[in-house]
Amino acid sequence: MAYKHWKIERDDENICWLHLDVADSSTNVLSAAVLDELNDVLNEQAQSLPKGIVFVSDKKNGFIAGADINEFTVVKNHDEAMVMLNRGHDIMNKVESMPCTTVAMIKGFCLGGGMELALACNYRVMCDEPSTRIGLPEIKLGIHPGYGGSVRSILKAGPVAAMNAMLTGRMLQGRQAKRMNLVDDLVAERQLKRAARFFVVNKPRPKDLGLKDKIMNHRLVRPFIAKQMRKQVSAKAHKDHYPAPYKLISLWQKHMDNPRRMLKEEAESVAGLVTDYTARNLVRVFFLQEKLKSQGKKSAFNPEHIHVIGGGIMGGDIAAWCALRGFKVTVQDRDPGVLAATMKRSNDMFRKKFKKDKRSIRNALDRLMPDHKGIGVKHADIIIEAIFEDKDVKQTLYKTIEPQMKEGALLATNTSSIPLEQLASCLNDPGRLVGVHFFNPVALMPLVEIVRGDNTSDEVMKKALAFGRQIDKLPLAVKSTPGFLVNRILMPYLLEAVEMVEEGIPAEKIDQAALNFGMPMGPIELADTVGLDVCRSVAKILSETMNVSLPAKMDTMVNNKKLGKKSAEGFYKWVKGKPVKDKNVSYTNTKDLEDRLIFRLLNEAAACLREKVVDDEELIDAGVIFGTGFAPFRGGPMHHIHAEGVDAMKSRLESLASLYGERFNSDQQWASL
Ligand code: NAI
Repeated sequence: MAYKHWKIERDDENICWLHLDVADSSTNVLSAAVLDELNDVLNEQAQSLPKGIVFVSDKKNGFIAGADINEFTVVKNHDEAMVMLNRGHDIMNKVESMPCTTVAMIKGFCLGGGMELALACNYRVMCDEPSTRIGLPEIKLGIHPGYGGSVRSILKAGPVAAMNAMLTGRMLQGRQAKRMNLVDDLVAERQLKRAARFFVVNKPRPKDLGLKDKIMNHRLVRPFIAKQMRKQVSAKAHKDHYPAPYKLISLWQKHMDNPRRMLKEEAESVAGLVTDYTARNLVRVFFLQEKLKSQGKKSAFNPEHIHVIGGGIMGGDIAAWCALRGFKVTVQDRDPGVLAATMKRSNDMFRKKFKKDKRSIRNALDRLMPDHKGIGVKHADIIIEAIFEDKDVKQTLYKTIEPQMKEGALLATNTSSIPLEQLASCLNDPGRLVGVHFFNPVALMPLVEIVRGDNTSDEVMKKALAFGRQIDKLPLAVKSTPGFLVNRILMPYLLEAVEMVEEGIPAEKIDQAALNFGMPMGPIELADTVGLDVCRSVAKILSETMNVSLPAKMDTMVNNKKLGKKSAEGFYKWVKGKPVKDKNVSYTNTKDLEDRLIFRLLNEAAACLREKVVDDEELIDAGVIFGTGFAPFRGGPMHHIHAEGVDAMKSRLESLASLYGERFNSDQQWASL
């Protein structure tokens, strides 16, 4: 029989090579249709049993990316979720109980539902190359594995390693996966088929769990380990905000003695989660991320050489990041001492990333060249300027480099506050200047704002967005207005926090209020981390055009060289890179503090929508989540307003205005939300 998504190939040895090539999709995902068809395929194979079945992907980009996330969004209630989950379970159980040997031949990513299918097979062989990775990342979508992956991964890798992988959702490289016993063999690409065949023919005895893992899985030991796991999880994710990891731990703790029962309970648990507020919003965040990715078409620009000018905090890290992503990079600074420091920091970044893989470290270092004289200017396809935040200094530089630049090369500035139109005024071709605004720390922050000035040409904008994708960041097209999107929305929130400190409210309580809302870090700790001098300069610029004023305290602290973390004292004292917080401070009305902070942010988000700083509400949400870490489980500021009800939110904003003054006056956009 012919199938739409699966292709069956029986070879001379009676081995069935079962190819998955999901129709009308660039990626293999396990949608309902694909699973239903697999059910038919397995029934057909069972009637004339092969020696073994090997699952193979015909997609170049990977094995299977997971379940079809689009299908999560249409599940309305628990019963519908159970239909979806039971379908998955039935098929995985069928794979597991096939009367012939089953092998997953993994090349490229193998994630979520794809990994669960692989785990249901008797054996897994994995390609030994960096882009082949496996993982159970469901936790990032507010659920946990739901097609039997929780039970089966624990039975293979033991509870500690498997739970750790599921609770963090991280991807595993080949060696790690092999060490954890999640795959049976790790081989070079050319040997994959041979390895798969070996398992079909020889059926070696699978490795059992070791004694230590058996003890950890014991009914009497589990409560202690589970307690430890909950403690670790709670340091990162609050139970009320992110219930999935806690449910996964309980699932294991309660049911591991009976894997069959645990499979059933796994489905029940995921059915409860998938329709829940958090999962709905995290799925939304996943699609927001896809939307940002689609803003930049990689094919629109193919730079080979990147030249970065300014090897300081930002430029140094941008250069290292680009080299890490495989580009040839020259980095220029007027100070050779800075360049030496840049190379050292880059070396640290590469070591952290590649760990013991010396060849990759060396290759990345080879790609990055210090270039005191700026020889790279004339060879580069894109020049990223990250020198002092001073219009005249930047323009002087532009005047010297423009005549040397290659035709068609982009000039990108990392400025955080100088309008692009002003900077471009000294150029012969102002259309080639675009903002590529990175966030600090470059290696950790996924967003880059691609700033369109009045003169920026469409072609340059398109190329800059593509560049964002080329270096694996999430590019967001923004209008050149003060603070662009992210700093502009963040600043009123930060300044409100400083205002509160001036009123005598303890910094610890202010930070706690933000954490209660779900922010990753409190605003006072954030201001100290960014540096109060940096905050002040952005705030100053914004105060010229926006409804924000600079609290006097900020000025005094900067003048007294209390700059935050970098000077070991800001609002907090900093010891060994950590703020010293007083646990005994008290303040009663923390909900009020939370509202004051968050409503300033929401109001500014509404203003950005009105001014069309980005194209739509979704892009505001995406920018604020990926640029500031705004509570992802709330789905973004605009989504949060709608979820809570525009009228109710607006009236709360108005009551804050009557209590705290006109900085809370609602933006006119609220009327049309
Ligand atoms: P920085 O002070 O750490 O580094 C600037 C570097 O530029 C210095 O090493 C300096 O020697 C070099 N430099 C100055 N003039 C030069 C010239 N004419 N030719 C060659 N090198 C020159 O500054 P930072 O913090 O890295 O900022 C750079 C740019 O990035 C600024 O426009 C800033 O607004 C922007 N930015 C900064 C962020 C931050 O968190 N620090 C975040 C996002 C953007």
